[in-house]
Amino acid sequence: MLVLGLETSCDETGVALYDSERGLLADALFSQIDLHRAYGGVVPELASRDHVKRMLPLIRQVLDDAGCVATEIDAIAYTAGPGLVGALLVGASCAQALAFAWGVPALGVHHMEGHLLAPMLEKTPPQFPFVALLVSGGHTQLVQVDGIGQYTLLGESLDDAAGEAFDKTAKMMGLNYPGGPEIARLAERGVAGRYTFPRPMCDRPGLMFSFSGLKTSALNTWQHCVSAGDDSEKARCDIALAFQQAVVETLTIKCKRALKQAGMKRLVIAGGVSANKALRASLEKMLGDMKGDVFYARPEFCTDNGAMIAYAGCQRLQAGQHESLAISVQARWPMEQLPPL
Ligand SMILES: Nc1ncnc2c1ncn2[C@@H]1O[C@H](COP(=O)(O)OP(=O)(O)OP(=O)(O)O)[C@@H](O)[C@H]1O
Ligand SMILES: [Mg+2]
Repeated sequence: MLVLGLETSCDETGVALYDSERGLLADALFSQIDLHRAYGGVVPELASRDHVKRMLPLIRQVLDDAGCVATEIDAIAYTAGPGLVGALLVGASCAQALAFAWGVPALGVHHMEGHLLAPMLEKTPPQFPFVALLVSGGHTQLVQVDGIGQYTLLGESLDDAAGEAFDKTAKMMGLNYPGGPEIARLAERGVAGRYTFPRPMCDRPGLMFSFSGLKTSALNTWQHCVSAGDDSEKARCDIALAFQQAVVETLTIKCKRALKQAGMKRLVIAGGVSANKALRASLEKMLGDMKGDVFYARPEFCTDNGAMIAYAGCQRLQAGQHESLAISVQARWPMEQLPPL
């Protein structure tokens, strides 16, 4: 089954062609980062308008790259939520219009299920069951995954998502959006031990997260540096390293707890923050010590992309799931509401 996948939940227009027999044939992405940078974050209305401009050229490009023609497409998968409603509606209406024109089924895919399954596109995909850490711009969740659509939420953030905390911490130090890769870059030159930030909610049992206090600690430290006349690159690097270490250690502690609670030794990490090298190294060490395995997607498939939507959609479409021509998207959508395959 050849599936066209469309992703428009936030500030990336992603398009891909995934074939159930041949795997990923082509994928293309247009990132709106430059468009939103001046505002320090995503402007929803600008995001929606830009998706409209990019969608059809990207679909043509992906068909060309794959050497396919539109009549070969068997089904269309698009992101139906969670995300920015205006942005989601662009992908949904485009998918439904093309599905109607081409006489093929369409299916709305859950964006976080897309992230969760992205590591399945790699050479050594994880086997079910596993524990998944979803760490993105809008989510920090620990999920027990017994199969596609069999999700049990084990824990999540009470306030900021991990990626959001990276972005906000970067912004207050005057760094560019998105802040995660900027903080990671500066952290490489930071001196360890100059600053230490809290590991939130690690001193009590449970699998919930909270990153807003950590972000405030970094803000206070930065403001202290500035008022002492030290708003230097070095101060930024040292704060970036201390912040990253606190996030990484907190996530590692909670993943270890979640694996123990679920009685599992397989961990999948997904979402934009899973591209972070320090996080990968820390989790690999932890899983290595317990003789387990950690799985993640190639860096470009950690952040938003069309390939993960085409893949997730293909699994469900092959199982016979599809929907009517109604155009319906959801800003909020708990993953546990998804039907199993
Ligand atoms: N190397 C990195 N280290 C830390 N954070 C990173 C890195 N690369 C990307 N990020 C963060 O990942 C986030 C973007 O990831 P993603 O595209 O998965 O999120 P999103 O789609 O905005 O949110 P959601 O998927 O929850 O709707 C941003 O917050 C970004 O700063
Ligand atoms: Mg995302």
